[in-house]
Amino acid sequence: MNKQNPLQPLDWAPEDLRVPEVPSSKGGMELRDEAARAAEDLAAAAADDGVSLNLVSAYRSYPYQQQTYAGWVDRYGQAEADRISARPGYSEHQTGLAMDVGAADGTCNLEQCFGDTPEGQWVAEHAADHGWIVRYPAGAEDTTGYSPEPWHLRYVGTQAAADVVRQGGVLETAWGFDPAPSY
Ligand code: DAL
Ligand code: ZN
Repeated sequence: MNKQNPLQPLDWAPEDLRVPEVPSSKGGMELRDEAARAAEDLAAAAADDGVSLNLVSAYRSYPYQQQTYAGWVDRYGQAEADRISARPGYSEHQTGLAMDVGAADGTCNLEQCFGDTPEGQWVAEHAADHGWIVRYPAGAEDTTGYSPEPWHLRYVGTQAAADVVRQGGVLETAWGFDPAPSY
């Protein structure tokens, strides 16, 4: 998904959502079953390495994303909002296959500096081993359409994740999609 590839229909919702058994900043957040299992794998592997990750955001429905996006537009205006938040129907969070992670102590949650924390560095190094890619890497805004989000992970499966990493880490480029800088 990106600004050129929305969900169809725009208000599509998955049917196999469940709450993953991972440390979370609030209760009730859901992912699709396969992604939930991969989130559990990732959290367990992090914990084994002494790294405490928190789930910060997971599935967001069309109406929820509508509110989220509108909030950013109110705050920063549409041009800036479009760099950091997807319009409803265009968010990977609506697929149930994306999640935002943070440090358990909340340091740099959903901020650029998360990438410099031990938790952010662990995620950058190990997410792909568990089927997740850092979907909006630094230096790729012209391709992904979004400013860097070291916390936003998209589940693609371990083979596809390894393939994306091997090809430079940008999903559009790796999978041969056109760049999607704008709507
Ligand atoms: N922050 C990401 C781009 C989203 O809103 O889906
Ligand atoms: Zn996200």
